[in-house]
Amino acid sequence: MKYINIIKKKSNFANRIQTKKSKKISITLLNSNQMKTAYNFNAGPCVLPKEAIESTINAIRDFDNTGIGLLEISHRTPGWERTMEETRQLWRDLLNIPAEYEILFLGGGASTGFMDVPANLLNKKAAYLQTGVWAKKAAKEAKNFGETVIVASSEDKTYSYIPKGWTVPADADYFHITTNNTIYGTEIRRDFDASEINNVMLVADMSSDIMSRPVDVKKYGLIYGGAQKNVGPAGVTFYIVRKDILGKITDRQYMNPLPTMVDFRTHAAEEAKNISMFNTPPVSAIFVMHETLKWVKDTIGGVENMNKINLKKSAMLYEEIDRNSMFRGTAEKEDRSIMNHCWVMAEGRENLQDAFMAFAKERGMVGIKGHRSVGGFRASLYNACPVEAVEALVQCMQDFEKANK
Ligand SMILES: Cc1ncc(COP(=O)(O)O)c(C=O)c1O
Repeated sequence: MKYINIIKKKSNFANRIQTKKSKKISITLLNSNQMKTAYNFNAGPCVLPKEAIESTINAIRDFDNTGIGLLEISHRTPGWERTMEETRQLWRDLLNIPAEYEILFLGGGASTGFMDVPANLLNKKAAYLQTGVWAKKAAKEAKNFGETVIVASSEDKTYSYIPKGWTVPADADYFHITTNNTIYGTEIRRDFDASEINNVMLVADMSSDIMSRPVDVKKYGLIYGGAQKNVGPAGVTFYIVRKDILGKITDRQYMNPLPTMVDFRTHAAEEAKNISMFNTPPVSAIFVMHETLKWVKDTIGGVENMNKINLKKSAMLYEEIDRNSMFRGTAEKEDRSIMNHCWVMAEGRENLQDAFMAFAKERGMVGIKGHRSVGGFRASLYNACPVEAVEALVQCMQDFEKANK
C-alpha cells in the first residue's frame, strides 16, 4: 500500500500525517528540527497569524479552563457566549462599527451571501458593479429577486481594471460592489460617498480586503464576506448590517416571506444570547477569528497600522514586478490591489513560465500560481503574510532574473 507523507511546516507542534489511501490517518508530534521553510501566498484559505494558531491549538486541548476542548464544547457554554460577545466587540473596536449595526457570524460562505443579500434587500431593483467573476456571480443571484442593473463591467479586459464613469440608478434599492477582486488583483480601496452613487445604499463584498485598512462603515448599509483571508479560517461568513434596513421587503413575489434562516433578522435577535446563535454557529472557525482579530488589535495595534504594513509589503512586490525584465503586472496600475498581486512573464519570456514556477517552488514559495483565467502568477499578501515572505519572494525574482539574463 502506498503512503503519502506530508511534513507540516513551522509549528511548535509540527505534525506528521500519514494517509493510507484515505483509510487511515495517524498524527504524531514532530520536533521543530524537522521543519522546513514555506512562504504561504495562497489566495484563501491562507496564512494566519502564528499566535492565533498556537492559542487555537491550546483551546482545542482545553477551552477556557473547562477541561473540555474547543471542538467538543457546547455553544451554550458561558465561556463560549463570552467569546462570541468578545469577537463582536473586536470587530466594533477595530472598524469603529456604530451601535446601529449588527455583526453576524453565519455559515455558507460569501457565495451564500450573494443570495442572502438580495433576499433581504431587493424589493424591485438592484445595481451591481461587475469587476470580476465573484461580482458577476453575486449579480446572477440578484436576478432571481428583481431587476438587476450592471452599471459597468470590466469583463472586456479580463477584469484588469475598475470601471469608471458609471451612474447608479437613483431608484435602485442598493448598489453592490466587490471591493477587492481576488482573482485579478484589482481593488476599490476607498469608501464611496453617497453623492457618487446617487444616494443609493452601498453594499459591499469585502471577502478579500476586510481588516486590511480602516473602513468608514457608516457609508454602507451592509458589508459581508467569507472570513478565510484576513479574519480567520474557512467556515464562517461575516455580515455587518445596519439594523433599520431589514424587514423592508414588501413588493416582491419571490421568497416573500423569507425562509427563517435566510432572514437576517433571525440572526440579529435583540437578546445578545441569540445573535448568530439561532442555530449552532461554526464554533472553531469563530474562535480562530477571535484570536486573529486579537492579533490585529494587540500585536499590530489596529487597522491603521495594518494598512501601513500592507502598503509597505505591497509596494515592495510591485516595485520588483515593474523593475524585473522577466515579468509584467496584469492589473491597471491605478487599480492595483494591495492584497493580491498578479503578474505574467514579460513579452519574449513566456517560455520561462514553468522554469520560474519550479525555481520559486524550490525556494519555498507556495501558492503563487495565477488563477486559470489570468494565468501567470499571483501572490496574496494578506494581513498575516510576514514582510520576510515578501522579501524572500522579491529575492527569488531577482535571482531568477540573474540566472536567466
Ligand atoms: C471577493 C470574493 N467574493 C466571494 C468569494 C467566495 O467566497 P466563498 O468561498 O466564501 O463563498 C471569494 C472567494 O475567494 C472572493 O474572493
